[in-house]
This record gives sequence, structure tokens and C-alpha cells, in this order.
Amino acid sequence: MAKVFYGTIIHSVSVSEIEFISNGLLFVDAQGRVAKLLRNVPQDQLQDGLAGIDLAVAELTVLEDNQFIIPGFVDTHIHASQYSYCGNGHDIPLLEWLDSLTFPHEAKFKDSHYARNIYTRAVARSLRNGTTSACWFATIHLDATKELVRAIHEQGQRAFVGKVNMNQNAPDILIETTESSIADTRAFVEYVNSFNTQLMQDQASDQRSKPLVTPIITPRFAISCTSDLLRGLGKLAAEFDIPIQSHLCENTNEIEFTMSSFPDSTSYTAVYADHGLLTQRSIMAHCVHMKDDEWTLMKDSHAGISHCPSSNFNIKSGMADVRRMIDMDLKVGLGTDVAGGYSCSILDAIRCSRICSIARNPTRSLLIPELFYMATMGGARVMELGDTIGNFNVGMEFDAILVNIAVKGSPIDVFAHDTVQTKFEKYLFVGDDRNNAKVYIQGKEVKLS
Ligand code: GUN
Ligand code: FE
Repeated sequence: MAKVFYGTIIHSVSVSEIEFISNGLLFVDAQGRVAKLLRNVPQDQLQDGLAGIDLAVAELTVLEDNQFIIPGFVDTHIHASQYSYCGNGHDIPLLEWLDSLTFPHEAKFKDSHYARNIYTRAVARSLRNGTTSACWFATIHLDATKELVRAIHEQGQRAFVGKVNMNQNAPDILIETTESSIADTRAFVEYVNSFNTQLMQDQASDQRSKPLVTPIITPRFAISCTSDLLRGLGKLAAEFDIPIQSHLCENTNEIEFTMSSFPDSTSYTAVYADHGLLTQRSIMAHCVHMKDDEWTLMKDSHAGISHCPSSNFNIKSGMADVRRMIDMDLKVGLGTDVAGGYSCSILDAIRCSRICSIARNPTRSLLIPELFYMATMGGARVMELGDTIGNFNVGMEFDAILVNIAVKGSPIDVFAHDTVQTKFEKYLFVGDDRNNAKVYIQGKEVKLS
């Protein structure tokens, strides 16, 4: 059903500018696209603004004083299989953390029923926090990863989903052969593609909108894959023309191990490039310890970066140079990296990112427009969805959060001096999921639990 919203609408228009629209009138068509956005429509002229809209087929929402609409958040890096121990195991650095906590948990995803339960809850929590698009890592297990696709589809999130690849440097129970890893990845991609084809056929022709779930090639990181597996995955990504995600330059011990495993490559970033895995469709998480030539390689390949500050603090990886990423106009968005990060909320990623940037570069720390951009438009650009989501320009798909800062139990207190700007900032820095009154994806309200 088409929708019309009247009230305060806030979105990024560029990395340096947030537009605050008062008395906005936003029209969303039945396919979930922004059809019209009018600014400054006085209350007494609302009926004129609505002229031509048949309210029998369009639902009108008039926002209250302490409500506003913002674009949905984009989480460019999150591990669904790690949700069950979110908040545990911090203070252990990456490689030890993988061995002691992550791998034993991920081994359990051999059982698809077990996977189904955790995946359903991880996706619900992510949506509840206003994440309308997410790049998910599953585990090596094909059947369990299909469960993640189904859990996401049933709850209506926009997502990239990856079956993880590992054929070395993990416990035996999590080791694939090169052949089975590639065969299962191919089977997974074909599963999602046929799932989407079926979905399109099932939809009424006048209601056709693009499928929301996309398969993504997901070598865990260079350490966990041999050169022949990495090369095979690069070929699969090219064959199906699909995105790629992995971890890059997260931790100094990891980098040392990687360079000793791939002596023919000039850098960690070059390892991915040398295997056909650094393209404009790649999403590299972390990028904390990068050399000059690696930044150049990222720029030249048009690859995207998922900045995961909460995880980088928690498992003590370091502080990424986000100022440099933005100055170089690299594609950069935010990632929660659950469970390296303790929170499924992009609001938390915004806060950690701000602190990280102040600690690294106090004189040129990130500004609020830059933080909000990374959480929305920047993340969309990283997912190569910059023409589809990220703000409310006409033609964009309507992925949004209806924020209510005065909801019962709200962590935010509103005072007489508050303006639209101060209310918005309070949401970013004090708000939480209780303030997310409604979440919309592709124009449809999703159920929050
Ligand atoms: N590097 C390889 N695997 C992982 C993971 O699961 N989490 C994080 N943060 N880094 C990784
Ligand atoms: Fe990660």
C-alpha cells in the first residue's frame, strides 16, 4: 500500500550535510519508492499538498512533535552466528578470541535447527535496532546458511548473506576441502538466486519489487583460506557478478601471520587483489593497520570499507583512521561486527566511531554529518546500493525508521529549549531501540519483536 508521511524528515544529502525538513510531505508509492518529497508544507495547506492522493489507497501518517523519520541504518559487517555470545569474551585479542570462543560456537551450526533459532533472534535484534540493510556472515555450513536466508526473508530485512569459507587454520570440524568449499558456495549462490526467481514469479506483476537478499562471497580472512581456494572464490564472484566480503588488516598478529602465509603478495590488501577478491563490489571490514600502498589499492579498486570501531576497541585491534578514509573519498560505512562488537546497534557504532576519531585525531575528529552519513548513505555506497537506499531523494526505495524520542520509557529527556537538531542529536547519542517506533523496508512496515 502507498504511504504518505507528514512531519519532520531528516536525511543526509552528502557526507558533509544533513537536511532537516520541517513540515515535510513524503509520498511512498505501492512499490516502496519515494515518489515525491515536499518541504515546508504548512499545516493549514496539508490538504492542498495531498491533492491527487487517494487516501483510500494510501495510508497517511501525521508525525507528532517528538517524532521524525530518518533513513534506516546500514550495518556493513555483522556475524549472525556470533549473536548468542554478544557481550562476552572481550579483552581477548583476535586470534585467541577466534580459537577460544568463536570457533567452538560456530561448530554448533552444523545443526540447522540450532542455527535457525539463533539466526531468527539475531535478525530480529538487528531490525529492532533500526538496521534495514545488513551484510551478514554465517558459518561454513551450507544448510545453516540457507536458514539465515529464510530467517531474513521472513522478517523482511534487506541483506547480503555469505556462507563462510575456511580450508585451513581452524579446528578440524570447521575445515572444508577446497573442492567442497567452492561447491557449497556455488550451491548457496544458486539457492539464493532460485529463491529470488521464485519470489519474483510469486509476486503480482504490478507489485514487483527487487528481491532483498543477495548472496555474497565470504572468505573468512586470508589466513583461513589457501591460495587455490581464494582464487576459486574470486572466479565465483566474477562468474555470478556478486559482492565479496572479508576481514582486512584488523590486528597486527593477524597481519604478520597473513604475510608469512602469502609471501608472494606485497601486502595483506594485495593478497585479496592477487586472488581476484578486491573489486568495486568488495567490502573489507576493519582496515585498522594499513600501509600507504594499501590505501592506494583500496582507492584504485573502488572497494568499500566497513569501519567497526566497537569491535576494534573490544578485542583490542586498534583504532582505524576514518578521517583518512573520508578524506580519500573511499567508500566507508559502519559495522557492528557482532560479536567482536558487543552491540547490534548502529547508534553504538556511531558513538564508538566518534570516540575513535577523537582519540586518533582530536583536531579533525568526525563531525555529526559524517557519522550519520556513514550509518546511512555511506553504508549504502559500500553495498553498491547508493542509487537505491540511503536517503529520501525521489526514486529511492523507502527504508526508514520512525523515531519517537518521547516514547514511554525513553532514555531521552526532552526540554522546552530543544530544537529539531538537538532532538536528533539526542537520539544519536542517548537514544536506543525503544525510540525506534516503526521500521520500514522497501516501503513496508516490518514487524519488530
Ligand atoms: N577475522 C576473522 N574472523 C573474524 C571474526 O569472526 N571476527 C572478527 N572481528 N575478525 C575476524
Ligand atoms: Fe567480523
